[in-house]
Amino acid sequence: MSGLSESAAAELVDAARAALRGAYAPYSGFHVGAALLFADGGLVSGANIENASYGLSLCAEAAAIAKAMNDGRRGGLVAVAVAGGRPDQAGAVLSGPEPVMPCGRCRQMLHEIAALGGTDPEVIGVAEGSLLRMPLSALLPHAFGPANLA
Ligand code: THU
Repeated sequence: MSGLSESAAAELVDAARAALRGAYAPYSGFHVGAALLFADGGLVSGANIENASYGLSLCAEAAAIAKAMNDGRRGGLVAVAVAGGRPDQAGAVLSGPEPVMPCGRCRQMLHEIAALGGTDPEVIGVAEGSLLRMPLSALLPHAFGPANLA
């Protein structure tokens, strides 16, 4: 994994921030957006969708992956940015001091789509004033994936 240029990373972070406007998170009040960048330049984003039955809530990354895979994407995942926070009284969502990184389930879902194309995507978590950037393989080492079932 070589990593995105600073400008490409900033663009992807902007897309994640824009995506979180679509969040439906009345229970946690924590709005999350995720943006996936593919090798062909395609960008697919999503936001978290909660449910009155709390455990059924869907993370932003899962929503974006579902959109991408329903669009026929299988692999080619280069990077993913995740941004989240609580809306203030004006509705603006500011990132907190800790970066938002994909939860365990989402790491596994990211591994699936990445493994289909043999990439190790860069994961970019957004905090207030900083980014945490690392390859998915560092967040999910020795992952179980399609190769195990081949
Ligand atoms: N959430 C995400 O959308 N992505 C993550 O990686 C972490 C958590 C959502 C789930 C839930 O709607 C809210 O954040 C609070 O956990």
